[in-house]
Amino acid sequence: MSGKRIHLSVLSSTNSYTIELLSQNGIESWTVVSCDHQSAGKGQRGKRWEVEPEANLTFSVAIEARIGLEQQYIVSSAAVLAVVNTLEAYGIDARFKWPNDILVEGEKIAGILIENQVADGMIRWSVIGIGLNVNQTHFPPYDWPATSMKRIRKGLDLDKEEVLSLLLQSLKQAWFALAKGKTSANIRRMDELLFGFEDEVQFEVGGKRVVGMILGLAHDGGLRLALSEGVRTFYNGELKLLRSAS
Ligand code: BTN
Repeated sequence: MSGKRIHLSVLSSTNSYTIELLSQNGIESWTVVSCDHQSAGKGQRGKRWEVEPEANLTFSVAIEARIGLEQQYIVSSAAVLAVVNTLEAYGIDARFKWPNDILVEGEKIAGILIENQVADGMIRWSVIGIGLNVNQTHFPPYDWPATSMKRIRKGLDLDKEEVLSLLLQSLKQAWFALAKGKTSANIRRMDELLFGFEDEVQFEVGGKRVVGMILGLAHDGGLRLALSEGVRTFYNGELKLLRSAS
């Protein structure tokens, strides 16, 4: 259950390297792969994850999940809760922008990329890739502005290893609670953490701008929205929250 720690100075992507190790059949559950610099870090929806080398955490955790395909939300909820709880331990109040971004003061502090290996109709392995901005202080003008723990903590340098260790502890706690079915309290907490919760926000759905109110999460992790035509649940990839939300 403890898993190995693999740290390399440069990797193209910790997720890709972990998946490669998995395909070679030589990995224990809870193996953690990290690096100082990702030369081709992957973001969601085919985007890149580009951050300053050495300043931040870029790592992946491989978990032998063995859960149903419809339980994918367990993986993303565990990852979101792990990041938010870790930030909380540093006195940083974070929100979660559905489905997988972590924001502080409306700016993105972490991104999560989950890649699953599916076999026999179940999620056999989940590779949870997390990029958490720790000590970087300047960011280029991204679509959605970025921030870091150091910026929020007014310039205080943080020990990345300490942050990682807290995060892994928190990930295990959330994972085992959710996998044992303790979902309702966690989903309630996720609702409270939702960026834009019970606010009217703008989305892009199928190339169109839509206004709706975020009602919360469905039991399967979908996002429930009140739209002019009624309440609808959306799933990952179906909509994009636009930045007018506060
Ligand atoms: C996003 O917000 O678009 C997701 C970003 C995920 C970045 C992390 S960094 C470690 C892991 N390896 C990758 O190539 N990507 C994830």
